[in-house]
Amino acid sequence: MCGIVGYIGEQEASPILVDGLKKLEYRGYDSAGIAVYNGSCIDVMKTKGRLKDLEEKLEGRAVKGTAGIGHTRWATHGAPSDENSHPHSNGDETISVVHNGIIENYMELKEELISNGYVFLSETDTEVAVHLLDYYYKGDPIDAVIKVMNKIEGSYALGILFKDYPDQLIAVRKDSPLIVGLGKGENYIASDIPAILQYTRDVYFLEDGELAILTRDEVKIINKDKEQVDKEVFKVTWDVAAAEKGGYDHFMLKEIFEQAKVVKDTLMPRLPEDQNRIVLDDIKLSKKELENINKIYIVACGTAYYAGIVGKYLLERIARVPVVAEVASEFRYRDPVIDENTLMIVLSQSGETADTLAALRLAKQGGARVIAIVNVVGSSIAREADDILYTWAGPEIAVASTKAYSAQLAAMYLLTCHIALELGRMNEEEFKELRDELYQLPRKVNRVLNKAERIKRLADKYVNSKNVFYVGRGLDYMVSMEGSLKLKEVAYVHSEPYAAGELKHGPIALIEDTTLVVGIVTQAELYDKTVSNLKEVKARNGKVLAIAVKGNTEIEKVVDDVIYIPQTHWMFSSILANIPQQLFAYYVSTALGHDVDKPRNLAKSVTVE
Ligand code: AGP
Repeated sequence: MCGIVGYIGEQEASPILVDGLKKLEYRGYDSAGIAVYNGSCIDVMKTKGRLKDLEEKLEGRAVKGTAGIGHTRWATHGAPSDENSHPHSNGDETISVVHNGIIENYMELKEELISNGYVFLSETDTEVAVHLLDYYYKGDPIDAVIKVMNKIEGSYALGILFKDYPDQLIAVRKDSPLIVGLGKGENYIASDIPAILQYTRDVYFLEDGELAILTRDEVKIINKDKEQVDKEVFKVTWDVAAAEKGGYDHFMLKEIFEQAKVVKDTLMPRLPEDQNRIVLDDIKLSKKELENINKIYIVACGTAYYAGIVGKYLLERIARVPVVAEVASEFRYRDPVIDENTLMIVLSQSGETADTLAALRLAKQGGARVIAIVNVVGSSIAREADDILYTWAGPEIAVASTKAYSAQLAAMYLLTCHIALELGRMNEEEFKELRDELYQLPRKVNRVLNKAERIKRLADKYVNSKNVFYVGRGLDYMVSMEGSLKLKEVAYVHSEPYAAGELKHGPIALIEDTTLVVGIVTQAELYDKTVSNLKEVKARNGKVLAIAVKGNTEIEKVVDDVIYIPQTHWMFSSILANIPQQLFAYYVSTALGHDVDKPRNLAKSVTVE
């Protein structure tokens, strides 16, 4: 997926576009470009590589003008190259387009266009859109855009410039996010809020099938029938610093250290002290509707899925409801059983993950009720779910998800208690005890964060481990999956999460003196069993780093190193146990010299299949 920015106003567009793209580099960063109307033509500058490569080219040849579009790319069709970079233009360069998404029928359309004499310069699906615009354009750009929207299938957010209409910028969306920023004498489009936050806090969220027509003094939103759409202005409350690094070396470290606040922000508004209940204002699911639910699916991708499986475990243990947790890319293709008595809980930081969005739509087609635990306000998943439980984690810029995971866990704690209370599986006394412990959680998160220096030393000690296992039992096993993913995605070190009790059924054959086993041992009822598994590892010369609850000093005699976390209710230990895993992965990655905020091959939100 990619990042789009557009500007039309009185200022030079180029610096505004480039600055906006910098804020979107986390969305994709293998090539970048801008197109600006310079008074006589649409001037395009684009390049393979990072944004700094584009800036160097622009220093060599400035691009002048006050209306333009920009793009930073994460390749889907066609390897990163100058030709495959956006913006793409039609043959006579009178139309220019930037695109985020995938045009699924692009091959068929490309053949049609070629048979009509069109010449393609790139391997991208996007170039089909600009030639189609050319094909349909007979003087009215809106007509042409609507015809193209009816022709292309798949997902798209498009920014479009027509040379014949230099005082107008057009934006459309279907399945890929796009916002409109409202200024004074200037207006903006962007894939995400940070790109324009320093210029305006007033935004429109475009819905699927809507067109935004921007001039310097006006923004009109219409649908494909050219009917005016009245939009509510959304006031962004984030501060600009929140979208910057705030003094940390990397966004990932900043976001790890934001977790006490994030957990507090996600929990506290829903746990008023003067009420013995949970306030979930965007969840309208009634007690009666809940009682009619006979199947719960928890569906997500990546880290969000690993938060979901913790939710599954808790919902079954506490609310006594059977839950199926599944990755969205599997769920959506296996023709699952769904009906009006099904509840789906989807989790997503970005709210734009294609597989998760598709799973949500499949569930709704089947009559299910969908609750979304999502971080980006106004995102596609947020807008298509029936109920929303926002994780107030703020913008998560680092590709590796950290604070969003903790916020998702906090949201699952709330939802579990809410459902258990509604179904009478938890009484008020039990809830009060849990609520009092939740109030302590942010402070305990900070106590774990204060161990960062020690964890950095442990990362330096184990930095050359070639094979790493993350093991645990019960909730600790669930958490181990997220720990393993972090090490893989930011440090490029192969690791594998494993049920501790399963090691002896084969994988223990891999243990040797270069193997590191990270043992998560926070569940008291399973402590002895997991410790004995760690002893088995030690007996085969493996190295063991344990994450255990403060006070269990026995374990120090068994393993090589221990990171202690504060005592908390067994339900909530996951948030605390995961922080050492995040920090360990971060410090191993930086010790190895990797680009921890933008790991190779990854992008922040996978809005393509
Ligand atoms: C996590 O560190 C990864 N960046 C990735 O697994 C991510 O969690 C996954 O793509 C889901 O994204 P979402 O939460 O935005 O839906």
